[in-house]
Amino acid sequence: MRILVTGGAGFIGSNYIRYVLREHPEDEVINLDALTYAGNLENLHDVEYNSHYHFIKGDIARPDDVSKAFSLGVHGVVNFAAESHVDRSILNPEAFIRSNVLGTQVLLEAARQAKVDKFVQVSTDEVYGSLGEQGYFTEETPLAANSPYSASKAGADLLVRAYGQTYGLPLNITRCSNNYGPYQFPEKLIPLMIIQALADKPLPVYGDGQNVRDWLHVEDHCRGVDMVLRRGRPGEVYNIGGHHERTNLEIVNQILAELGKPLSLVQFVQDRLGHDRRYAMNADKITRELGWQPQIDFPIGIQQTIRWYLEHREWWERVRSGEYQEYFAHQYGDRTENTPAGGRAE
Ligand code: NAD
Ligand code: TYD
Repeated sequence: MRILVTGGAGFIGSNYIRYVLREHPEDEVINLDALTYAGNLENLHDVEYNSHYHFIKGDIARPDDVSKAFSLGVHGVVNFAAESHVDRSILNPEAFIRSNVLGTQVLLEAARQAKVDKFVQVSTDEVYGSLGEQGYFTEETPLAANSPYSASKAGADLLVRAYGQTYGLPLNITRCSNNYGPYQFPEKLIPLMIIQALADKPLPVYGDGQNVRDWLHVEDHCRGVDMVLRRGRPGEVYNIGGHHERTNLEIVNQILAELGKPLSLVQFVQDRLGHDRRYAMNADKITRELGWQPQIDFPIGIQQTIRWYLEHREWWERVRSGEYQEYFAHQYGDRTENTPAGGRAE
C-alpha cells in the first residue's frame, strides 16, 4: 500500500512514518508537509534514505501541492497536517482555519477523485469540549469545541463525515487524547516543562494547575491510527486514549521529581483563555473492534521521554532557536507559514 501521510515532519506524523516503515516494510510512505515552524525533517533523519519513503514539501490547502502528491498514486491517506497548539490558536485563529479546515477539504477532494481505499482523519478529544469531574468522552458525545484550535478540528471532522455521507468516501476519524514522547515540539506541556526544569527556569503552570488531561504515549497512538487505517470499519469514529488522567500540577511535579529539581520552580501564571477543565477518553470501541490497547505505562513512558530530551539537547536547542527552519527553507524554498519558532516561556 502507498500511504500519503500529511504533516509527517511533525511530532506524531514523524513517529507514525517510522512506525509504518518498521512494521510494514512492504508499504510506501509519501510525506506531504509544509514545514511550518512545527515541521522538522530532522525528526526523520533515520529514514531519509529509505527507498520506501518520499518527501514532498507542500501545503494541504494548496490543490497544486496536493495533486503533486496524488500523482504518485495513493491508496490510503492519513491526515496529521494541522496547526496544533491551542495557545497559538488563541493568538492567531486564521492559520488554524486555513490549514485544519480548508486544508482538510482540499485533501478530501483529491482523495475522492483518486478513489482512495481509506482516508483517516487524525482528530482530537478536544472536539468534545470539557468534562466535569465525572464521566468520559465516547464517540457519541456531541461536539462542543471551545478553542479556535478544537473548533477547526471539529469543522474538519464534520467535513470528513460529509465526504463519507455525500460521496461515499471510505473514511475513519480517530480522536486521541494528549500525546507525549520523543520529537514533541517544546511548546507543549511535557517537553516545555522538561526543558525549563533542565535550565532551572520557572515552570509556567496555567491557573490553579488542576486541569486534567488523559496522557498517551505517541507510539500507542500511532499503532491505533495504523489499525484504524487497515481495519477500521468505513465511516466509523474511534476514540484513542490512555486512561491516564492527571492534573497538570501532578505532571509537572513528576517531571521535577524525575529530574531531581525543586518544586519551587513551579510558577503559577495567568490562566489560558477558555481553558478546558478536564479531558478523559472512553476508548472501549477501538479495543472491542480492533483489539487496540495502550502498551506503554505512563511512569515508564515519561522516564523514557525525559531521557530522550536529555540525550537530544542539540535537537531541541536547534528547534527553539529556529535554526533548522533556515536550513530547510534554504533546501526547499520559503516556508508557507511565518509563525515564529520556540516555546512560550524562556
Ligand atoms: P505538530 O504541530 O507537531 O505537527 C504538525 C505538522 O503538520 C508539522 O510538520 C507541520 O509542518 C505540518 N503542517 C501544518 N500545516 C500544514 C499544511 N497546511 N500543509 C502541510 N503540512 C502542514 O502536531 P502533532 O502534535 O504532531 O499533531 C498531529 C495531528 O494530531 C494534528 O492533526 C493534531 O490535531 C492531532 N492530535 C494531536 C495530539 C497531541 O497531543 N499532540 C492529540 C490528538 C490529536
Ligand atoms: P498543551 O500541551 O498545550 O495541550 P492541550 O492544550 O492541547 O491539552 O497543554 C496541556 C495542559 O497544560 C493544558 O491544560 C494547558 C497546560 N499548560 C500549562 O499549564 N502551562 C504551559 O506552559 C502549557 C504549554 C500548557
